[in-house]
Amino acid sequence: MMIDLRSDTVTQPTPAMRRAIAEAPVGDDVLGDDPTVNELEETVAALLGKEAAVYMPSGTMTNQVALRTHTEPGDEIILESQAHIYFYEAGGPAALSGVMCKLIAGDRGLFTAADLQAALRPWNEHYPRTKLVCLENTHNRGGGSIFPLAEIQAIAQVCRANELRLHLDGARFWNACVAIGISEADYAAPFDTVSVCFSKGLGAPVGSALVGSQELMQRARRFRKMFGGGMRQAGIIAAGALYALQHHRDRLADDHAHAQRLAQGLQTIDGIRVNLDAVETNLVYFHTPPDLPATALAEKLAAVGVGVLPTASHTLRAVTNLMVDQAGIDTALEHIAAAMAQLRSQPHPSSTVVAPTVTQY
Ligand SMILES: Cc1ncc(COP(=O)(O)O)c(C=O)c1O
Repeated sequence: MMIDLRSDTVTQPTPAMRRAIAEAPVGDDVLGDDPTVNELEETVAALLGKEAAVYMPSGTMTNQVALRTHTEPGDEIILESQAHIYFYEAGGPAALSGVMCKLIAGDRGLFTAADLQAALRPWNEHYPRTKLVCLENTHNRGGGSIFPLAEIQAIAQVCRANELRLHLDGARFWNACVAIGISEADYAAPFDTVSVCFSKGLGAPVGSALVGSQELMQRARRFRKMFGGGMRQAGIIAAGALYALQHHRDRLADDHAHAQRLAQGLQTIDGIRVNLDAVETNLVYFHTPPDLPATALAEKLAAVGVGVLPTASHTLRAVTNLMVDQAGIDTALEHIAAAMAQLRSQPHPSSTVVAPTVTQY
C-alpha cells in the first residue's frame, strides 16, 4: 500500500467510522431535521465554548461564509500574506464577499498585535471600512506553525478596541490544541468565529463547521444556503465527522511524533535540508540541493509508493496522518535515502530548469 504523505486530507474512513456512517439516523438538514448533523453541530459548538455551529461541505466554504457573514461588499479584511483564505480559495474574498484584502507579512504565517496595530488606519471617508481580521492556526504555508494564545489574546484586544471582528481559519485547530495542551474552548475564546475541519488530521471523509454566536450562525446559515451549501440527508457524512471528533483528536499526538521522527530522519540523509525547529505539528517541509529539482525526488518516490508533494522548485511537503504509522515513516525514510543516493549519482538534465510551484492543500 502507498505511504501517502502528500496531505492529511488523503485519509480513508476507518472500519468503525464506516459503521457509524452506515448506521447514522438522517433527515432533511435544510429543514433542520437531521439528528446526526444536529448532534455534530451541538457537540462541536460545546467543545469550542460557543453557542452554535453550522456544518458545511468544506473548509473553504466555512471560511468564505464567515467572511460574508462579517462583512459587506467594499469592506476590508486583514490577513497574513500566506493565509489559505487569500492564497488557495480561488479569489473567494473578492468574488463572494466583494472585500479587499490587506496583507500582513508574517513570520511562518504568524504576526503580532503590534503588526496589526500598524496596519490599521484612522477613519477617513476615502478608506475602505476595515471589518475583520483572520488568523490561521496551525498555519499551512507557515509549516504547521502554532499561533501562541497570548499573542492571539493581544490581537483580540486590538480588534475589540477598533470594533473589528476576529475569525480563525482552524482547519488544523485540533493539531494546535493537542500540541500545546490548551483546551479547544480556551483557544477559541478570543474569536468571534472559528472554522474547523473534520476531513484533515481527524480523518473524516467530508466536512467542516463554522462556530460562533447564535446571531452570527443564523446569518451564516443564510449565506451557506446562498453559496449552495445547504445539504439534505447530510447526516451520512456528518456521522463520519462526529466519529472523528469523538475518537481521533487525541491521536493527533501520534502524527506529531511521526513528523518529528520523519524530520530527524530526513536531516541525516545526504543532500536533504530540513529546519527541525520549524516542525511543530504534522507538516514537514524539506529541501533538495540546488542541482536536484523537488519534482525529480517526488517522481522517484511515487514510483516506489511514497507520496510527497513538491511545493516549490526545491521544496517538498510531507504531512503525517492517520494512514501512516511509525513503521511507515521508517520505510518512507529508507525510500527517500535510496532515492537521494540514486538521484545524486546521476546527472540531471532537468536540474537547470526551475520546476513550477505545485499547489499544496
Ligand atoms: C489552512 C486551511 N484552511 C482551509 C482549507 C480548506 O479546506 P477544504 O479543502 O476543505 O476546502 C485548507 C485545506 O487544506 C487549509 O489547509
